Amino acid sequence: MARILITSAIPYINGIKHLGNLVGSQLPSDLYARYMRARGHEVMLICATDVHGTPADLAAGFRLSFDHFGRSSSPQNHRLTQHLAGRLADAGLIEEVSEQQVYSEADGRFLPDRYIEGTCPNCGYDRARGDQCENCTKQLDPTDLIEPRSAISGSTDLEVRETKHLYLKQSQMRDQLNTWIDSKSDWPILTTSIAKKWLHDGDGLQDRGITRDLEWGVPVKRGTEDWPGMEGKVFYVWFDAPIEYIACAAEWTEANGLSDADWERWWRTDKGADDVRYVQFMGKDNVPFHTLSFPATIMGSGEPWKLVDYIKSFNYLNY
Ligand code: 2FM
Ligand code: ZN
Repeated sequence: MARILITSAIPYINGIKHLGNLVGSQLPSDLYARYMRARGHEVMLICATDVHGTPADLAAGFRLSFDHFGRSSSPQNHRLTQHLAGRLADAGLIEEVSEQQVYSEADGRFLPDRYIEGTCPNCGYDRARGDQCENCTKQLDPTDLIEPRSAISGSTDLEVRETKHLYLKQSQMRDQLNTWIDSKSDWPILTTSIAKKWLHDGDGLQDRGITRDLEWGVPVKRGTEDWPGMEGKVFYVWFDAPIEYIACAAEWTEANGLSDADWERWWRTDKGADDVRYVQFMGKDNVPFHTLSFPATIMGSGEPWKLVDYIKSFNYLNY
């Protein structure tokens, strides 16, 4: 009997629930989990809501068989996100960068990435968002956009102001990630082609800003310590969301009166997870974060976290 850990991409809390969420990650992960359970394997199927950043209410009622459904705002995710950031800093993989960010006078705030719209510098799509172009999947920074406007007010009265942020030096991990992805000869072409595109184009592994000027999110801390200069800032939603895959298992144990060892045997290779097969399901727009950014986070921590064994990705559901 094998142990199979399965995660379904965790949907934004205030996104519009659409069939793509169901078809592209939740239903296939559920089918796979049911099949593996029916074969007698021990299965852990995990999902949550991605509640930070620009947040989707999960339409309930599809009767999916999640063992636990968590939320990325949980205390467990706060602690683990802050812990991993501290580990990455200790490993020299975090850099403090003063940068220019878009401030909207009309809205009276720095604009979160996805609230800035404009033209994609890569493919010319005119409704690209500041974090990612949904047309060509390129990960963007808001200042990359051509002719940017506020998606809140439509205002083009945007001003660039200086602010300090933390960057994850994932470019330093290019070789390690490359070797790891190259070892995955059984992955679907959709998954590896997106991963390799961003690895080899040279811009997929640019160092990424992992903090934001927002009030809602995981406060920036270095482990349990305050992080001087980072007061009032939170971690970027794409930094803490995948960490919730792990924290969600810790939420599951707490909700069921179990012990830490019960979730660690799914996630820590030093605590029994080395014989777990971990399978992820997601839409193709999530692939860069799961093949590059999240592995960089957990590999970079130097701790023995379980890495994904197989990533099943899906093209968009168009109709
Ligand atoms: O695309 C989305 O809906 C994201 N919230 C998926 C996050 S998956 C994981 F990283 F948490
Ligand atoms: Zn584009």
